Amino acid sequence: MTKNKESIDIKRSGRETFARVDAYIQEKILKSRDGFSLLLKAGAGGGRALRKPFSYLGTFIGDSGVAAIHPSSKYLVARVVRAVEQGRPRVIVEFGAAEGVMTKRILKGLPQDGLLAAVERNAGFYKDLSEIKDARLRTACGDVRDIRKILAAMGIGKADCFVSGIPFSFLSPEERAALLHEVYCQLQHGGRFVAYQCTTHLIPLLRKQFQQVKMELEIRNMPPHFVFTAIKK
Ligand SMILES: C[S@@+](CC[C@H](N)C(=O)[O-])C[C@H]1O[C@@H](n2cnc3c(N)ncnc32)[C@H](O)[C@@H]1O
Repeated sequence: MTKNKESIDIKRSGRETFARVDAYIQEKILKSRDGFSLLLKAGAGGGRALRKPFSYLGTFIGDSGVAAIHPSSKYLVARVVRAVEQGRPRVIVEFGAAEGVMTKRILKGLPQDGLLAAVERNAGFYKDLSEIKDARLRTACGDVRDIRKILAAMGIGKADCFVSGIPFSFLSPEERAALLHEVYCQLQHGGRFVAYQCTTHLIPLLRKQFQQVKMELEIRNMPPHFVFTAIKK
């Protein structure tokens, strides 16, 4: 009897133990799920600390045209901005600004009477970009293939510099050539086009369109990027 009773008790306590373990695991799973969705929400525009990697990763998953899972490194930003500033530009057009890592740094060196027109196609990134408060900044949510219309709508004539982070490899060969031609036409003489890319496929096109082309490599970025400076003489 006692043995039976004990075994019944053991069974009962076993069930209770399993029920407790089950509840414990459920609670842990729910907490992890909530935690993960909080991280995703942070990426979608909420929190601060984990916001950048998650916003890029999340945006990239939804839009492969973003072509990056994180913003440019501070080394790449510094190298690109140096190439831009060497031309002492007053009017700058930025292609593929995303949420503005390059934009903010360009604004730091821009003269007080300067103008920066930043174009970004992805609506999520554009929301962040448009929150940058600076009287010298104009923003447009659109495709740089329409750059002539975009600049006309902003009342901007020729620019001293175009800086581009868009993946040119995603454009057709005809679109690439047409866009570079448009950039060339919209540049002042002596103006420059600075492009950061992880491939070298732009070189022949740049050489065809511009009178001078320089190339640098920044390895402190994942992936390493080439920085091309093409000058209109
Ligand atoms: C490699 S990310 C660079 C982002 C940012 N400038 C940086 O340095 O971290 C390229 C950006 O270009 C944008 N983009 C790609 N194609 C575009 C197009 N045709 N017109 C406008 N923006 C474009 C993408 O949405 C993405 O935000």
